Amino acid sequence: MTDTLNNDTAGAGVNDAGYATFTAGGFTFRRDEYFATIEWPTGSHQLAIDSFLRSMQRDVAWGFFYGIVNFDEVFGTMNHYGNVDMFAGRFNEAYRKAEVDYSENFDHDVLIECFKAILSDWTNEGYDPFAAPMETGSAFGPSKGTNDAAVTRRRVVADRMVGVPGDEQIRSDETGFPINRGFEDVPQDEPIVRAEAGYEDEVCSFNLFAYLSRSDVTWNPSVVSACKESLYCPTTEEYILPVIHGNDRVEWFVQLSDEIQWDVEDRDTGAKRARVVMKAGDVAAMPADIRHQGYSPKRSMLLVWENGSPRIPEMIAKGEATVHPVDF
Ligand SMILES: [Fe+2]
Repeated sequence: MTDTLNNDTAGAGVNDAGYATFTAGGFTFRRDEYFATIEWPTGSHQLAIDSFLRSMQRDVAWGFFYGIVNFDEVFGTMNHYGNVDMFAGRFNEAYRKAEVDYSENFDHDVLIECFKAILSDWTNEGYDPFAAPMETGSAFGPSKGTNDAAVTRRRVVADRMVGVPGDEQIRSDETGFPINRGFEDVPQDEPIVRAEAGYEDEVCSFNLFAYLSRSDVTWNPSVVSACKESLYCPTTEEYILPVIHGNDRVEWFVQLSDEIQWDVEDRDTGAKRARVVMKAGDVAAMPADIRHQGYSPKRSMLLVWENGSPRIPEMIAKGEATVHPVDF
């Protein structure tokens, strides 16, 4: 396991565009005005910087998430919950055959600190990697200021359910979250609860559509209810899911409004497996052996339902659980 990383901001490491260079194990990260360039002992790769920052933002905010976060078809991370692999070409058949793929294991805390430092240094003033492209400034050009308030934004996580006293809420004008331009037609009335005397603090409800209409970010599932390992994670989507998510468990999607089109590929090789068009009311289950990327032509609401048990990857490996939600 690699436990060292460096950035040479303290030395002469700031390049002509004003950006620091970072290293983690055998990987080096550089940015210029348009691209992030990643080098590893057997190769190198470039990503458009806006796309790279949007992916990096999710990987950091989600703590490497479930399974695999592919920034694109070459570079990404694989979560082992406590430690994490950073890889290039590992889930790309051509890179594997040419033997230029590379993977290195890091302590979770070490790699996340490196990624946070990259995100902070490479994000310019006025650009928010969480925002839809039409709702933020440009990621391109020479280094200009920072946007740490945006890139350190925390994912909203409820302990029980949104609306229960004391839990985090983004439900009203008082919290400072305005209704998004895509959801101006969403009713904002809240359900009326008439609880038995003595149960006033224990019975609650909330308007999920109104809640989501005020989400100021895209492709960032919040957790609105947690019942043991069952997590309801709704989110609002616009433009392209910045990562190609490689599942390590079955994942259910309920399309709550509008439309998302999904490209579904084999998780390990990237071979195309399906294209799924989900319209409001549609429900789909993504198997545990695929990777997927979604396209949302206008802002839409999606409910992602996960079983968050850390045992699931091991159960699948041992054959105690299947990669399909239902065997017909
Ligand atoms: Fe997924």
